[in-house]
Amino acid sequence: MSAAAMQGLAAHRGALLHFLSDPGEFDDAAAYEYFEDGLLLIEDGKVSAVGLAPDLLAQLPAGTPLTEHSDRLLMPGFIDTHIHVPQTDMIASGGRQLLDWLNDYTFPTEARFADYAHGREVAEFFLDELLRNGTSTAQVFGSVHKASVDSFFDAAAERGLRMIAGKSLMDRNCPDYVRDTAESGERDTRELIERWHGVGRLSYAITPRFAPTSTEQQLESAGRLAREYPTVYIHSHLAENHAEIAWVKQLFPWSRSYLDVYEHYGLLRERATYAHCIYLDTDDRHRMAASGACAACSPTSNLYLGSGLFDFAACDRAGMGYALATDVGGGTSFSMLRTMSEAYKVAQMQNQRLPPLRAFYLATLGGARVLHLQDRIGSFRVGNEADFIVLDLAATPLMKRRIANTQTLNEKLLVLMTLGDDRLVAQTYIRGLAVLP
Ligand code: GUN
Ligand code: ZN
Repeated sequence: MSAAAMQGLAAHRGALLHFLSDPGEFDDAAAYEYFEDGLLLIEDGKVSAVGLAPDLLAQLPAGTPLTEHSDRLLMPGFIDTHIHVPQTDMIASGGRQLLDWLNDYTFPTEARFADYAHGREVAEFFLDELLRNGTSTAQVFGSVHKASVDSFFDAAAERGLRMIAGKSLMDRNCPDYVRDTAESGERDTRELIERWHGVGRLSYAITPRFAPTSTEQQLESAGRLAREYPTVYIHSHLAENHAEIAWVKQLFPWSRSYLDVYEHYGLLRERATYAHCIYLDTDDRHRMAASGACAACSPTSNLYLGSGLFDFAACDRAGMGYALATDVGGGTSFSMLRTMSEAYKVAQMQNQRLPPLRAFYLATLGGARVLHLQDRIGSFRVGNEADFIVLDLAATPLMKRRIANTQTLNEKLLVLMTLGDDRLVAQTYIRGLAVLP
C-alpha cells in the first residue's frame, strides 16, 4: 500500500462549488468558491484541501488515488432540514388540506411504526432514497413510537450517516393508536436522548408534532427537556395553514400568536427548527430571529397541501434564519433540486427573488447553519466531514443541450435546479466513500 493510501488520502477532480456564507439576493462573490477545474482532497473521511486542480495536483503525495469527474459538478451533500420517515409510503396522497390530510392519511400510516421491523424496512428505503437524491443529512420526524426512532437510527448508524431525529410527542386531538401521554412522552424522549444523542453522527430532536396535538402539560414537559438538554434539537411545525392557526387560537386563547405558544413553553431557542412558518407576523419573525430558532421552508409541501407561500423577503428583513426542506410526505419529492425549483417559484409568485446561488446555499451551508453543523458539514471547509455529491450536467438530453447553451455559473445552476432531480446525482460520498451502486 502506498504512503498516501495508508493515510486514507483520496483526491477528486472536477468542477467544485461550495459556500462560505449566504450570497444573498445579489450573488455576493465573497460568499462562495467555484473552481471550474477543482480538486478536493480527502484524508480519513475529512476535507484536507480544496482549490484549483493544477495547484493542488503538484503537491499531492505520490500514490494518492485520483478520481476524475469530467463534466461533473462536485458540491457538499444536500441537507434536508425537515422530513418525515413514517410518511414515506403515503407521499402523493392528495385531495385534502392539512388537518384532513393528517386524519385521513397520515395518522393511519404512522400507526404501523409501533413495529420495529416495519420501521427498519421503511428506514432503509428512505435512506436509500435520500442518498439517491444527494441528501446526506436530514432532520427527521419519527412517529409517536420509540421504535420508529430506534429503527431509523440503527439504519443510519450502520451507514455512518449524520442524521437528526426524534419521536413525535402527541397526547391529544389524534387517534388513540398514535397517542402518547405527557408522562410516557417525556420518559420515552429521555430514554431516546440518553441512548442516541451524540452517539457517532446522530443527534436527537425533541419533537412535539404541533401545538394542537399536545396538551399544555406535554408542552411544559418538552420545554423542561429542552432546558435540561441544551445541545438537543427542537423540531416542530408552525403557522402552516389557516384552519390550523384558528384551532391553535381556540386551544390556547391566551396566546398572542401561534408562535407565542411555543415561546411560552420555552421551545424557542437555538437548535429549534419550525417547519413552514408561512403565517407569521413581524413580531413573530423578530422573536424567531432573536431566539435563534429557524424555519424549514417546505415549498413542495406548501403548494401540494394548498397551505400558502413562504415570505422570504419578510424573513430576511427580520433577520430570521431559514433553510430548505422537502417535508415528505406532505412534500412531493425527496429531491432538494425539485425543492429549490419550487422555492424559486414561490418567490416569483410574490415578486421576490431566490437567485440560484442562494438556493444552492440554502440546500447546503444554509441547512448546516440552521442545524448548527456548519463546522462539520455543508461546505468544503478544511476539517469538515467529506459528505459530497457529484452532479452529472449531461444527465438528460435536455439538460445536456441546455447546459451547453449557458455561459455563467448562475445560468448553469438555474438550469440544474429547474430541470434536475435524482437523475443528476451520479454519486453520493459519505465521509469520502461512494455509497451509490
Ligand atoms: N403539522 C402537524 N403534523 C404535520 C405533518 O405531518 N406534516 C405537515 N406538513 N404539517 C404538519
Ligand atoms: Zn412536516
